[in-house]
Amino acid sequence: MNNAVIVIGGKWGDEGKGKIGSRESKNAKLVIRATGGANAGHTIVYNGKKVALHLIPGGIVYPQTTCLIGQGVVLDPIILLEEIKTLEEMGVPDITKRLKISGRAHVIFPYHKHLDTLFEKMKKNPIGTTKRGIGPCYSDKDHRIGIRVYDLLLPIEELAQKIDVATRIHNQMFLTNDMTDRLVCPYQLASEFYCYGQQLKNMIVNADILVNSACKNDDKIVVEGAQAYRLDKDFGDYPNVTSSNCVTAGTLIGAHLSHKDVKEVIVVVKAHDSRVGNGPFPTEQPAHIVNDLVLDYDSPYIGDIIREEAWEYGATTKRPRRTGWFDAVILRSAKGVLGADYLCINHMDTLGKLGQIIGSVKICTSYKYQDKEIDYYPDDMELTGEVPTPIYTTIDGGWDIPSNLRDFDKLPEGAKKFIEIVEFVTEIPVKYIGVGPDNEDLIVRNL
Ligand code: GDP
Ligand code: IMO
Ligand code: MG
Repeated sequence: MNNAVIVIGGKWGDEGKGKIGSRESKNAKLVIRATGGANAGHTIVYNGKKVALHLIPGGIVYPQTTCLIGQGVVLDPIILLEEIKTLEEMGVPDITKRLKISGRAHVIFPYHKHLDTLFEKMKKNPIGTTKRGIGPCYSDKDHRIGIRVYDLLLPIEELAQKIDVATRIHNQMFLTNDMTDRLVCPYQLASEFYCYGQQLKNMIVNADILVNSACKNDDKIVVEGAQAYRLDKDFGDYPNVTSSNCVTAGTLIGAHLSHKDVKEVIVVVKAHDSRVGNGPFPTEQPAHIVNDLVLDYDSPYIGDIIREEAWEYGATTKRPRRTGWFDAVILRSAKGVLGADYLCINHMDTLGKLGQIIGSVKICTSYKYQDKEIDYYPDDMELTGEVPTPIYTTIDGGWDIPSNLRDFDKLPEGAKKFIEIVEFVTEIPVKYIGVGPDNEDLIVRNL
């Protein structure tokens, strides 16, 4: 049965996937996180309080849901245990009964984070990773020396043997880079992680069975994608990408699903764009950010205004995000590979405020690249050394959208015009329009 709603990021992450994933879970039985790990920061609002979740899907706030951390996730048990505690303290019921973890998900160890930091230091052009150990953990998985969640349930001696094999090369790296304090002591680490395994034991499952039975029973499934199209390791801005396939196809693998299970793919974006870390960003606006610090400024640049109005600071790293105008060309290129059925445009309220401050707002509708006008996102920027120059359509003025607006027809004309242009360029219908951070701050169009 095709009952799975798949929520995918359309740009460089932080588009509000947590909010939409959570809202879609209101009437869902099974909610799944499928890729990435604690590099993700998904903000949801629970009882009026904002919380950024890194591993647990936002659907956990609805008590009828079972939530699964799928096989494609790289799981940091320390962060997961903290997250469970935070949600319990906030009053979310029965978390440990409703949360399930695929035994096949891979485990992030401290050595993955140390390697992440080391590799970044060694690069001439660092990626600006979240330093959560994501790349090194996925690379261990590919080298077939990864340690899976099931392994945390082994006797300590056996887990220590696996860690020993996994870290022989890593220890060489630490030795040759004056990082002797990072050398791994397998037995000690195994003892620590065995304890985490025991705390998580009752949640660890063969997730194929769980997901298959939800599909058979015709239960609504929501998959909360992490990262985004341009961060995908194959489709994205390589090497400035994450280490997973976070497009729809990779997300399905991570969620134990097949393409036949998909009901709807919702591609989430904001009415402005943002990016954390390095890499091309054609519509980026200048801002006073140096080395991840916002400098004092007398008169803000447009990038500063967007960042401050939209509060674009990393939910995971707290880094100030790079910001820019909405790029519709990227989505035109994304439509096919993501299998996009609908767009969700969050922050339509923020764009209105930006228009009020700046006087107008812009949408990039095509690019100038290599002396031609093009309507697709080029994949040879490293070769040409050129980032495309956006060609904009400008909408004069701004608008005010109250967060309780639910009627599409009552949207200000400027906002409707913006949506019309987006639909025209991307050829994807805009079904959801975010008008505030809360799960309910959403206009849903009957399409
Ligand atoms: P994710 O990683 O895709 O889940 O997104 P993040 O949580 O990292 O970043 C999205 C940010 O936008 C969060 O601070 C949300 O609370 C906020 N947000 C989401 N949708 C809206 C919206 O429609 N309006 C406003 N004002 N804020 C929103
Ligand atoms: P959510 O799910 C924004 C970026 C990092 C860096 C690159 C590689 O919240 O949208 P990594 O630590 O994954 O090796 O970093 O990818 N990145 C994200 N940017 N949102 C995310 O997740 C991200 N996850 C990774 O900033 O540029
Ligand atoms: Mg985020």
